[in-house]
Amino acid sequence: MSRRFVVAGNFKMNLLAGEASALAAELRAALEAEPPACEVILAPVFTSIHAVREALQGSPIALAAQNVHFESSGAFTGEVGAGFLADAGCTHVIVGHSERRQLFGERDADVREKAKAALDAGLTPIVCVGETLSEREAGQAEAIVLGQVASSLEGVDPQRVILAYEPVWAIGTGRTASPEDAQEMHAAIRSSLLASIRDKVRILYGGSVKPDNAEALLGQPDVDGALVGGASLKTESFLPIIRAAKH
Ligand code: PGA
Repeated sequence: MSRRFVVAGNFKMNLLAGEASALAAELRAALEAEPPACEVILAPVFTSIHAVREALQGSPIALAAQNVHFESSGAFTGEVGAGFLADAGCTHVIVGHSERRQLFGERDADVREKAKAALDAGLTPIVCVGETLSEREAGQAEAIVLGQVASSLEGVDPQRVILAYEPVWAIGTGRTASPEDAQEMHAAIRSSLLASIRDKVRILYGGSVKPDNAEALLGQPDVDGALVGGASLKTESFLPIIRAAKH
């Protein structure tokens, strides 16, 4: 079963609009010169979405937001609903990133509502799951992650989302899951999905993906791409990761 690879750059709270659009333009030029074998998605800060959209106009590079509110509109000061993201040119949105879960108290129920809101607005949610270091050390990694997958996707068709496994202890730390550990978890996640659809669902790995480990991670049979934070902020580190995603 061939699943098209996806490489997504999560800029987090980095890069002003001019910087983000300059990076997008640089990536665009490089990918136009040599088209990638994978789908490429950029997720800038909300306020940079417009500028990045302009830089990407007419290119196959897709645009994502990093968060979404689950209500579509109304008295929710400071929030952004999925329809607004679609209106701004986004086709994808990251939901349930571990920083949202850990720093902003998002629970699986919130993630689920956000994923549903995204789908209702025609966006593809990139649904993140992952265990903490203490959960891994306690031998609970798989139970925690499979629980997050089941609960975050309750009532959601997994074929309509992109999943991202991001062990919390690997995010921004320079520590990466070994390709074998990543594969083991990706295979477990896939097996937890309905047999009739599991081969169609793309599961990205995230957590300190860098040019020097991308090929080994992306070479695992159940790793279908990467969600990249720090290394997505510069063309010289992001491009080799995109190039390592070969189908
Ligand atoms: P990192 O972040 O690549 O900087 O570890 C990944 C992520 O949080 O999506």
